[in-house]
Amino acid sequence: MLVQLNDQRPIQTSEDVVGVRQTVRQRAVELGFNLVDQTKIVTAASELARNTLQYGGGGTVRLEEVRDGARRGLKLVFEDNGPGIANIELAMKDGYTTGNGLGLGLSGARRLSNEFHIDSEPGRGTRVTIIRWR
Ligand SMILES: Nc1ncnc2c1ncn2[C@@H]1O[C@H](COP(=O)(O)OP(=O)(O)O)[C@@H](O)[C@H]1O
Ligand SMILES: [Mg+2]
Repeated sequence: MLVQLNDQRPIQTSEDVVGVRQTVRQRAVELGFNLVDQTKIVTAASELARNTLQYGGGGTVRLEEVRDGARRGLKLVFEDNGPGIANIELAMKDGYTTGNGLGLGLSGARRLSNEFHIDSEPGRGTRVTIIRWR
């Protein structure tokens, strides 16, 4: 899998979350995603960016264009150095929240992505990687 370009941006404020949505939309358009696929990755990115801010205490997102043969995709890596997630399986369950959300962010982002990977170590932070292929 070849990485074409990458761009890292901070997620420290709710304005940054809005900016992430806009940038992801723009990249998806540039990559030729149709409207449905644009919306899927923007929605996933929005949920993950909000988690980075709300639970991770802020962090970053890295945007990468990836290729696998003729396939092109958009890869997003959300990282924070927050408290981490003690039980990932539980956190992934529909409806599970330790805040006052709907508990559908992580599970929704997984469903909206073609590839989903979460790494977390309590006390160290969280990294969530998603890819949506065109
Ligand atoms: N970056 C993160 N750092 C720490 N905990 C997180 C992070 N992202 C998600 N979580 C935990 O996983 C739970 C489920 O997240 P999510 O599915 O997005 O639901 P919600 O945001 O509605 O709580 C959160 O309530 C939180 O406990
Ligand atoms: Mg959430």
